[in-house]
Amino acid sequence: MKNLLDLLKDRYSERRFDPDKTVEDEKLELLLEAARVAPTASNRQAFKLYLLKGEKGQAIISNFNAPVHIVISGVAEEAWVRKKDSFNACELDIGIVGTHIMLEAEDLGLKTCMICAFDVTELQAGLNLPEEEYPILALAVGYPSEASRPAKKHTERKSLEDLVTVIE
Ligand SMILES: Cc1cc2nc3c(=O)[nH]c(=O)nc-3n(C[C@H](O)[C@H](O)[C@H](O)COP(=O)(O)O)c2cc1C
Repeated sequence: MKNLLDLLKDRYSERRFDPDKTVEDEKLELLLEAARVAPTASNRQAFKLYLLKGEKGQAIISNFNAPVHIVISGVAEEAWVRKKDSFNACELDIGIVGTHIMLEAEDLGLKTCMICAFDVTELQAGLNLPEEEYPILALAVGYPSEASRPAKKHTERKSLEDLVTVIE
């Protein structure tokens, strides 16, 4: 197994999937299991997962040719809220759930792309989401095509100097 930091550094967002290579059901189950065990604030688990196999995801979420899409919706009313300033952890929780899925996928030899730039109204209608659920994050999942490569942005990370303040 790859060292975790190597896996984190090797990962990049995939936007060129192989449309003909389906993802094995056993691997999909492992992705969902990785989502299930994700930590959430106060363990509220205020999220739902939608597994879209095939063309529906390609029609309403991404045009990356991904054979699978996973949509994570949030139930904000069930999420933990910080009393003092009413901060609601729902979206943060879902970011972590999505990260679990993304890293498990990478470990299984799959590629992913997180997606927020979807049409919310279209997704709500397409998945027939109940009123209390709001789609927060989607992931395109599949095997890379031969054209797979990281986008330029992948390499444009700030330096630690720009990001970190050490307070002693
Ligand atoms: C919350 C979130 C939402 C994103 N939404 C999109 C999206 O809608 N479309 C897209 O092509 N990439 C999306 N991305 C991928 C980012 O653009 C990508 O992670 C970033 O440019 C860094 O590149 P890398 O993932 O290859 O390292 C999203 C990433 C995150 C974390």
